[in-house]
Amino acid sequence: MYCLYDREEISYTQEDWLKHFEDNDDNRLQPDFSNEPDLSEAQALMLFPTIQAFQMGERSDGVHLMKEVRKYANRTGDETYVECMKWFIREENWHSVYLKQYLDCYQVPDMEVSVLDQCFRELRRFGRLKGEVLVLATAEIVALSYYRALAACVESPALKQICRQMLLDELPHIIFQGQTLGRLGFGRCEELIAVGLMESVIAATWIPLRKVLLAGGYNLTSYAKECLGYLKQMMAIAQAKS
Ligand SMILES: [Fe+2]
Ligand SMILES: [Fe+2]
Repeated sequence: MYCLYDREEISYTQEDWLKHFEDNDDNRLQPDFSNEPDLSEAQALMLFPTIQAFQMGERSDGVHLMKEVRKYANRTGDETYVECMKWFIREENWHSVYLKQYLDCYQVPDMEVSVLDQCFRELRRFGRLKGEVLVLATAEIVALSYYRALAACVESPALKQICRQMLLDELPHIIFQGQTLGRLGFGRCEELIAVGLMESVIAATWIPLRKVLLAGGYNLTSYAKECLGYLKQMMAIAQAKS
């Protein structure tokens, strides 16, 4: 698990975040698919369903999220956050593009329906901006372990490049969401909800992700420990801002 407190983004202002997302957009990854190995049937069965599900999750248009962001900005006058969130959604959509390129390389089609993705989308609608950001961050924390495992699963140069980029982007996202939760108010009640949600999501994602996670060196205990460890760090960031 990486330490979030040591990262420079921990002291970012909204203006710094805006620059961070704009700079990232100037330097998007161009994965190199020229040395991809043939995959065995077992590897394909392990990899593709989860990559399809994450590719779907990362391609959200963020319409409902941006409605809540707009309401928050109208209340607080924080227009920079609106701009940050537009760039943030764009960055997430790039993650979807990388995964789509990987799937295309093996002629694997997009997934039309993902039960897991549908659950996350429904959950996010419950609790205005704070609920949206909390569920989003929970999914991003799961993604950190998943992409780390995925990179270690197969000897694929492109997948390793993509997963490394995901980690580079997602670690700051957790700090960004933590700071937002802090501004929205993050107390003991929110902490209990966040831990309960994380534990439920760990349990619900273990079955569909377990083959990749096990191949990547995790077991249920280490997966849960890492997710809860990132959550604890994010909650400390939120509480420092509250
Ligand atoms: Fe992402
Ligand atoms: Fe993210």
